[in-house]
Amino acid sequence: MNWIEEGNKYLMHNYARLPLIFERGEGVYLYDTNGKKYLDMMAGIAVNILGYNHPVITKTICEQAKKIIHVSNLFYIKPQIELAKILVENTTGDKVFFCNSGAEANETAIKLIRRFFFSKGQPDRYEIIVFKGGFHGRTIGALSATPNKEYQKGFEPLVEGFRYAQFNNISSVLENINKKTAAIMLEIVQGEGGINVADKKFLQDINQICKEKEILLVIDEVQTGIGRTGKLFSYQHFNLSPDIITTAKGLGGGVPIGAVIAKEDIASSFTPGTHGSTFGGNYLATAVAKEVLNIVNNENFLKKVEENGNYLKDKLKKEFNFPVKGLGLMVGVELPENISAKEIVKKALDEGLLIITAGKNTIRFVPPLIIEKHHIDEALEKLKRIL
Ligand SMILES: Cc1ncc(COP(=O)(O)O)c(C=O)c1O
Repeated sequence: MNWIEEGNKYLMHNYARLPLIFERGEGVYLYDTNGKKYLDMMAGIAVNILGYNHPVITKTICEQAKKIIHVSNLFYIKPQIELAKILVENTTGDKVFFCNSGAEANETAIKLIRRFFFSKGQPDRYEIIVFKGGFHGRTIGALSATPNKEYQKGFEPLVEGFRYAQFNNISSVLENINKKTAAIMLEIVQGEGGINVADKKFLQDINQICKEKEILLVIDEVQTGIGRTGKLFSYQHFNLSPDIITTAKGLGGGVPIGAVIAKEDIASSFTPGTHGSTFGGNYLATAVAKEVLNIVNNENFLKKVEENGNYLKDKLKKEFNFPVKGLGLMVGVELPENISAKEIVKKALDEGLLIITAGKNTIRFVPPLIIEKHHIDEALEKLKRIL
C-alpha cells in the first residue's frame, strides 16, 4: 500500500486532499516526494508567511526546543509576555490571550463578548452580527458565526445569538441591531468567502455605529493579519478602532498559534478560571511568533507586500479578462461559470504551481510574504499556460 492509500485508510475523510506528498521546502518553493518543484502561491492557506526553511524560524525553533517547549499557563512565560507587548504596542488593544488556532481565537472572542456584558450587568446583550460570506472557523461557536449552509448542515442545533447581515450593506446591519446586540464581527477581506474586500464607507459607518451604540467592534484578522494585506493588521488601512482583534495563521510562520487582543475594560471581564488553554501561548509558539513579528512589523517589509500585491493584481488584470480583487498579497480572480476554479487548481499542480480556491468560483493567491516580483512573473507564466 502506498502512503495515499494508507492515508485514505487511516485518516478521516473530512478533507478533499490532493494526491500529493511534500517532502521539503525552501523559500517560496516546495518539493514533493518525487523531487518535483512547486511554486507556492498559497503558503499552507495563508500561514507560511516567511516561506520554508526560513533561517530565523528554523534557528528559533531549534534553540527553544533545547530549552523548554511547554510548561502551561500556571506560570509566567517570558516570550509570551514579549509577544503580547508587541501586539499591544501595535494595535488598539491592551491585553492579549493566546490560543492555538483561528477558530479558537474567535471562540474566545465570542466568550469574551458575552462575559463583558455579563460583567456589566447586561447578560441579555449577547447577540453578535456577522456577515454572509464570512468565515470564522469550524468549532461550534465559530461555525454558528459562519453563515454557510454547507458548513453548518448536520451540526444543528447551532449556538444561538448570531444574526446574519449582508456584507457591504449598512442598512442590513442597522436592520439587525436591537437591544440585545453586543457586537459586530467581521473580516476586512472575506478570505474563504471569495476575497471580498469591505468598502471603506461601510467599515467607517460600522465603526461609527459601534461607538454610538456601545456595540463592540470585533475584527477577525485570522487570515488578513500579520502583514498579509500590507499593514500589520488590515483594519489599519481604514483607521478603525476595534475593541477585539483575533488573529492566527501567519502569526507563528507555520507553528500553530492564535491570539485575541482586546481593550482593557473588555479584557478585564476574563478573571482567573473563566477561560483557558493548556497549550495556548507556549514557549515554542510564542518564541517563534515574536521573531516573525520582528521581521514582518517593519515599514519596508510591509511596503514591499503592498507593492508586490499591486504588481500581482495588475499583472492578473492585464493577462486575463476576469475580475481581480484583493488587498496586499491576498488576491482573488473570479472565474466565469464555464471555468471551474477547482479544475484550475488541479491543473496547476501539473505546471508546478500551488494555488487554492475561495468562495464560489474564485482562485486565491495568498503566497509567502517574502515572494519577489520574478516569482510572480513565474506564477503568471504558469497560469497563462493553464488558463
Ligand atoms: C477569517 C478566518 N477566521 C477563522 C479561521 C479559522 O482558523 P483555523 O482554521 O486556524 O481554526 C479562518 C481559516 O481559514 C479564517 O480565514
